[in-house]
Amino acid sequence: MISVQRSTQTKPRPSDDQLGFGQYFTDHMFVMNYEEGKGWDAGRVIPYGPLAIDPAASVLHYGQALFEGMKAFPQKDGSISVFRPEFNVQRLRNGAERLCLPQPPVEGFLAGIKALLKADSSWMPKTRGTAMYLRPTLIGTEGFLGVRPSRQAMFFVILSPVGQYYKKGLESVPIWIEQDDVRACPGGLGAVKAGANYAASLRAAQRAKEKGYAQVLWTDVTHKQVEEVGTMNLFFRIKDTVLTPALNGSILEGGTRRCCLELLREKGIRVEERPISLAEIRAAWKSGELEETFGTGTAAVVTPVSVLAGENEIWEMKKGFGPTARMLFDEITSIQYGETPDRFHWLQKI
Ligand SMILES: Cc1ncc(COP(=O)(O)O)c(C=O)c1O
Repeated sequence: MISVQRSTQTKPRPSDDQLGFGQYFTDHMFVMNYEEGKGWDAGRVIPYGPLAIDPAASVLHYGQALFEGMKAFPQKDGSISVFRPEFNVQRLRNGAERLCLPQPPVEGFLAGIKALLKADSSWMPKTRGTAMYLRPTLIGTEGFLGVRPSRQAMFFVILSPVGQYYKKGLESVPIWIEQDDVRACPGGLGAVKAGANYAASLRAAQRAKEKGYAQVLWTDVTHKQVEEVGTMNLFFRIKDTVLTPALNGSILEGGTRRCCLELLREKGIRVEERPISLAEIRAAWKSGELEETFGTGTAAVVTPVSVLAGENEIWEMKKGFGPTARMLFDEITSIQYGETPDRFHWLQKI
């Protein structure tokens, strides 16, 4: 049974148009602890606040840290629905296996996020385009300096009400093709949502920003194969075929990517998940057959790419939302806000 300790101090609530991304946090958090020999406790909802962890905790030294990013949406009848939480718990559990952390139980994860969303339901923004972002996090907490898996762990969830991801509404973004740093490599951590992957990505992202690009296109270790974008999976449409890089062990599988593939297949659009080289994209761009390039992710759902640029080339894309990106964005968001029937069973009411 999850206990709930209500906060005695409630924070001022931002209005829906002030929200932005990841700036405000609600009054409560969910915390569940693990200890070898005892397993996971039932978890509790407690007031949002600093965590007390041992300075020798493995997360602080050896980076045993994983996180998730997911959203809950306001429904027309005033209820709240979480989007594909079973995908996120499975991705976290896969990551825990890779990082030698204990796997949070599926039921404990789902019950925890629902209890937290209920405790902070008055924080739920209401406007179309807004959502409650959930940040489940798993860390090794044992205070011990030997290099081995932590025998203690903490799973916690915090909530952040968020607005439309791009301030000016739907935007296309310019992307820099990274040719120096790599985000992930075969056998590494790329396929799981480890905090370390984001630490590895910051330098290239910063350099790209200095050049005027929004995010980085990550390639494989040879810098020839397309992998993904900073925080998005990548799709191309060449003539009538939609392409996305096959999951190769170093790409993070996104929940939005999975939704897009389901929708494309439902509509009978030809889709290929396979290795994609920069040379193939260059050739399609040159011949005028590259119709659309877009990223997919929880934060903005679908984001068209306006430009792909590298040291020696700038490939200007066709302007704005192409028909495939538009269809995917409209279908996914209308299911999220309960405006069309949830025929894929993506929503879980809390
Ligand atoms: C590296 C990376 N790839 C892909 C994605 C897209 O994943 P999702 O659709 O689950 O948000 C994200 C965002 O979470 C990401 O950080």
